[in-house]
Amino acid sequence: MPSVSGKNILVTGGAGFIGSHLCDALLAKGAAKVVCVDNFFLGKMENIKEAMEHDNFVLYRDDCRQFGVMQSIIAKEEIEIVFNMATIALNYSFFNPIDAYMVNVEIANTLMELLKVKAYKTLIHTSSSEAYGTAQYSPMDENHPTDPTTPYAAGKAAADLMVHSFSKVEDLDIAIIRPFNNYGPRQNAEGPLAGIIPVTAKRIKNGGRPVINGDGEQTRDFIYVKDTVRGLILAYENEKSRGKIINLGTGKDISMNALLSCICDYMGYKGEWDHLKDRPSDVRKLCANIKRARECLGFEPEMDFENGIKETLDWYMNNSII
Ligand SMILES: NC(=O)c1ccc[n+]([C@@H]2O[C@H](COP(=O)([O-])OP(=O)(O)OC[C@H]3O[C@@H](n4cnc5c(N)ncnc54)[C@H](O)[C@@H]3O)[C@@H](O)[C@H]2O)c1
Repeated sequence: MPSVSGKNILVTGGAGFIGSHLCDALLAKGAAKVVCVDNFFLGKMENIKEAMEHDNFVLYRDDCRQFGVMQSIIAKEEIEIVFNMATIALNYSFFNPIDAYMVNVEIANTLMELLKVKAYKTLIHTSSSEAYGTAQYSPMDENHPTDPTTPYAAGKAAADLMVHSFSKVEDLDIAIIRPFNNYGPRQNAEGPLAGIIPVTAKRIKNGGRPVINGDGEQTRDFIYVKDTVRGLILAYENEKSRGKIINLGTGKDISMNALLSCICDYMGYKGEWDHLKDRPSDVRKLCANIKRARECLGFEPEMDFENGIKETLDWYMNNSII
């Protein structure tokens, strides 16, 4: 069974939310070298503060779409494995749809071209549950139709198709991991691309009101970020993952109303909520079937939502992020 221990590993988007936790986990598991390539569109130095203390962590402020850039980094750092975590958040679809789509596709194209010429050996590519669109049945397995409802999601679905088909014709070593909604420390709390949990906590902390879009009965399957990272590493370490798309979630979904209620209860907020109209083309329901992750990776989510949300809110409040 392959191990990340002793390997030179590149993480695209490694200064972002999930990517930075992945860098920490790879360092903790004994990777020989962890190379983060991030253009800092949304990445933060704060996220990789702990990783930067390691001598075997290397940071490049670069654009992963660029073939020449990635080719030279991969050669110089003698990379064996790439985890593709770089993206621009879903909300970017609402003001720059073309780039929200293209960034996902172009990064995947570059990484596949480099895999084809044997610049490195294995790609663990990250998809998103958004590729499915609203659940046509629940829980959603990997055979659920893809019906993306935003350009971001279309870019994720297109990149997945390309990685999957390209790997078949060239017999390349890939796995496609499809996480559902992540939460935990380090999710972006600033501006229009912020995540709902940090943004709600920030509003309450600053004396504002929580905001809900539509009727709040939209549901998501929230997986704790460190569970996702464990699943990503298991996907490298278990070769049963190769050539497959594999969901990572918890198998339970909760509504936005329930999520906001949890945040309000924990932060002691008893006031009103502001109600806005539905977000354009918002997905109504997402809930993962994780049978394949269990069978291929031996994956089981470890953090339950009640404890995960408390840990997350404590982290935001203790780290002056909000
Ligand atoms: N956060 C979630 O709930 C969630 C759910 C499902 C799937 N995913 C997927 O997981 C991966 C990581 O998501 P995240 O939430 O950590 O996102 P994030 O926005 O926090 O991190 C993405 C990182 O990619 C960087 N980046 C963007 N364009 C780049 C480019 N051209 N070159 C180099 N770096 C670039 C950004 O600066 C950022 O640091 C993405 O593939 C995303 O689609 C996330």
